[in-house]
Amino acid sequence: MSGNRVTKAVIPAAGLGTRFLPATKAMPKEMMPVVDKPAIQYVVEEAAAAGLSDILMITGRNKRPLEDHFDRSVELEARLKERGDLAGLELIHAATDVAAVHFVRQGDPKGLGHAILTAATFVGSEPFAVLLGDDLIDPRDAILPRMIEVQAEFGGSVIALMEVSPDEISLYGAAAIEPGTEADVVRVTSLVEKPAAAEAPSNYAVIGRYVLSPEIFEVLEKTPPGRGDEIQLTDALQVLAQRDDRGGPVHGVLFKGRRYDTGDRLNYLKTIVQIASERNDLGPEFLNWLKEFISEKR
Ligand code: UTP
Repeated sequence: MSGNRVTKAVIPAAGLGTRFLPATKAMPKEMMPVVDKPAIQYVVEEAAAAGLSDILMITGRNKRPLEDHFDRSVELEARLKERGDLAGLELIHAATDVAAVHFVRQGDPKGLGHAILTAATFVGSEPFAVLLGDDLIDPRDAILPRMIEVQAEFGGSVIALMEVSPDEISLYGAAAIEPGTEADVVRVTSLVEKPAAAEAPSNYAVIGRYVLSPEIFEVLEKTPPGRGDEIQLTDALQVLAQRDDRGGPVHGVLFKGRRYDTGDRLNYLKTIVQIASERNDLGPEFLNWLKEFISEKR
């Protein structure tokens, strides 16, 4: 079975970001800077690198910073030109030139599943990718191209799974899996959102990359609010996982690479340290300082 070529990406960024208050009082958490770029720009760049140049961003309250970031800034451009700051110009163009970014409003943040529903018109009848705007995948370990390939091979929907420790699984959606014919691909037989450790079907956690069949929309329409009283994408995927057609089956691609979570404070801090220390321009000096700082703290 072969799906259509995936060309569209949906990036939800309409959550309340309550774990980051007060920073997220007037700004979406996806705009939090990771060194010198908002988290969501890394995600847009990842989508574009996977050939997904048509992007729909789902925004909520405080949508302005997101829209402004992916729009031209005529005044800033004029100033940088006046000063002959070509490097600065290139940096601000990077946000607008990388892909065509469209916006849709979620209204009430009633959960990730509800956010995805707002993308139905944009998506139409082709499989599409979803990238969570606060979840960064290292470009050296890109997983989306493989997920798109697996979707083309098996049809249905594809999720990304990462093995986590038993005490972490309750922070994620968890998947029951069966081995597939390829080492990095499994069949997902059932899914549960943020299970208690004792009830988790495995330690395979759902991470923020999906390639979904458009049939997900009609399932989401009928999905009642679940955990946290939110319409959960995981619950709709659980329905597709039981099907052999109409949006199913659900396969999982196992991810073993570098991933950075920017959605909570501790992981956000770790992300910045990891990414900054690998930058050619900042890394060497930053690491030297960091080593000294840590030895003084002991
Ligand atoms: P999270 O649960 O991590 O985001 O949702 P949140 O609700 O903003 O965070 P906290 O728990 O209050 O701190 C995962 C992704 O889904 C989006 C978020 O923006 C994030 O990218 N989301 C979530 C929506 O777009 N709409 C929603 O209603 C909920």
